[in-house]
Amino acid sequence: MADERGSTKFQIDLRRHLRETGVERNLTRLICEISEASKYIINSIRTGDLGVAGTSNLYGEKQLALDVLADRILEKRMKHSGVVASVISEEQEQIIEFNPGHSDCYSVAYDPLDGSSLVDVNLAIGTIISICKGNALLGRGRDQVAAMYILYGPRTTLMYSTGNGVHEFAMNQLMEYTLVQENVTIDGNSDIYSPGGQRNQYSEGTERFVRTLEEQGCKLRYSGGFVPDINQILIKGRGIFMYPHLKNRPQGKLRMLYELNPMAYLVEQAGGAASDGKMRILDILPQEIDACSPVFIGSKKEVALAQEFLAAEGY
Ligand code: F6P
Ligand code: MN
Repeated sequence: MADERGSTKFQIDLRRHLRETGVERNLTRLICEISEASKYIINSIRTGDLGVAGTSNLYGEKQLALDVLADRILEKRMKHSGVVASVISEEQEQIIEFNPGHSDCYSVAYDPLDGSSLVDVNLAIGTIISICKGNALLGRGRDQVAAMYILYGPRTTLMYSTGNGVHEFAMNQLMEYTLVQENVTIDGNSDIYSPGGQRNQYSEGTERFVRTLEEQGCKLRYSGGFVPDINQILIKGRGIFMYPHLKNRPQGKLRMLYELNPMAYLVEQAGGAASDGKMRILDILPQEIDACSPVFIGSKKEVALAQEFLAAEGY
C-alpha cells in the first residue's frame, strides 16, 4: 500500500491497513479484537503460572493453566465483539454459539496457544485463527475468508490475510501492531526443511522424500512450534514443513480446523502450497471438529515433489 509520506510505512497500524485495503467493517472489527486479545495473552505468557490446569483437552493432552487462560481471553473477546456467531477452540469440546443465524457475523476457529508445551523451555509459541463467514465452522478450508496468527517470540509479530495477500505486523513499544511487510511471498526453492514426527515411523515415500531433500543440501530447521516453523517459511520465502502420516499415527498430529486450514490459507495466499500428500489441504472436508491430517506445506515445488514421492514409493 502506497503511503503518502513514503518513508512512514512502520507507522501504518493494523486497523488502518485493514481499512485502507477495503476489508469489510465487521471483519476489520474482528481482526482488531483478536489483536487486542493477544496483548492479554502475551501478558499471561510473560507472568503466568507454568503449571497444569488439572484438565485435558479433546486430544487427551494435559491443559496448562496458560492454555485455559488464553482460551478464556479469546472466547470473551469474541463473545463481546458483536460480530461473531460462533467459535470453536482446540481447548473446547464443542462449538459455542453466541449469535446464531446472524448473517453479517463470522465464525472463528482457534488454537489459543499453540506449542504451549514449549513455554517452560522459553521457545516461541503462537495463537492461530481461522475465520469463516456466517456459521460455517465445519466447511472446507477453501471457504475461509481470513486467517491469521500471532507469534510470541523474542518479538511479537502478527501475520494476516483476508484473501488479498499476506501481511506482517510487529508489536511496537506502545503495544500497537505496525506494518513490517506487505505481500509476503514464498517463491524460492527450499533449502530448509522442518520434519515433524518420529522418522522411524515414516512411510517409504516420506523417508525417500526427506533423504532427497538432504541430498539436495537442505538444512533441518524444526523448532517444535507450528507457528514459528511456518513463520520461518513465510519470512524466508522458502522451505517445507511436514508432519506426515506415521505408521503409528496415520492421520498425523496437526488439526484441520485450528492449525492446518488457517496455515494452508496463509501459505497459499503467499504463493506456496499445502497438501496431505495426496490432495490440497483446503479441499478436504473435515468430518469432525477434532479431525487431523498429515501435512506437507511450504514452497510449491517441494510440496509437489513430496506428492510425487508418495505416489511413486508408497503413501
Ligand atoms: O499443537 C501441535 C504442536 O505443538 C505444533 O505446534 C508442533 O508443530 C507440533 O505439535 C510438534 O509436535 P512434536 O512434539 O511431535 O514434534
Ligand atoms: Mn496446537
